[in-house]
Amino acid sequence: MTTVLKLGGSVVTDKTDPETVDEAALDRAAEALAGRDDIVIVHGGGSFGHHHADRHGVSTTAGTHDPGAIRAIHGAMKRLNAAVVDALANVDVPALPVHPMSAAARDASGDLTLPTGGVRTMLGEGFVPVLHGDGVVHVDEGVTVLSGDELVVALADGLGAGRVGVCSAVEGVYDEDGDVIRRIETFDDAADALGDSDATDVSGGMTGKVRALLDLSTPAHVFGLDGLEAFLGGGEPGTRIG
Ligand code: IPE
Repeated sequence: MTTVLKLGGSVVTDKTDPETVDEAALDRAAEALAGRDDIVIVHGGGSFGHHHADRHGVSTTAGTHDPGAIRAIHGAMKRLNAAVVDALANVDVPALPVHPMSAAARDASGDLTLPTGGVRTMLGEGFVPVLHGDGVVHVDEGVTVLSGDELVVALADGLGAGRVGVCSAVEGVYDEDGDVIRRIETFDDAADALGDSDATDVSGGMTGKVRALLDLSTPAHVFGLDGLEAFLGGGEPGTRIG
């Protein structure tokens, strides 16, 4: 049974400081993953992807044809990806980098195509693919942002994943009183608490996350770093979505 796990950009980076890895958090996540080879890792952008995307006015819907801007976004994400792969390698996870921009595409309505044959074969051969939020070629837009959450959805569907987890900077999706909502089955369950997406997050913050995860056929779990071990052990920390 394959697990798809996203490590949020705000978990593995210091979001306030451009291109800064949160080494302690990344090492902690890597430790929890030691010994796993039945898992696909996706990580977000945090302080690596978002400020480049922001600076060039690129979001999941608004693109750019400026190759320098695209290389800046992609280059930053590759640097973070190398740090994540290294941290996993340090605990003997057989991690290999996968750069989604090389294979993914969006059509004119923004729908994503992500070939998963390479990832499936990597898993079959005992490797742990490590993908990342990235740029993606997009018909009529040039390149837009491809969020880690979209990758999680595409991989979970494409691979028929048995478990899906999103490890984020918060313990789950909070209700209006600040308590973790244990289960969200429809967007309406959380609409009041979620409100508008965070303007500084080019790919939609928690609202975008919940919408994307509700599209999955497998329930997904959103939890914080404290919940990662429980999730990997088969538990249901944080919020169950779907
Ligand atoms: C964003 O990915 C990728 C880029 C900005 C290029 P995510 O949207 O998944 O990143 P986080 O997890 O919210 O930081």
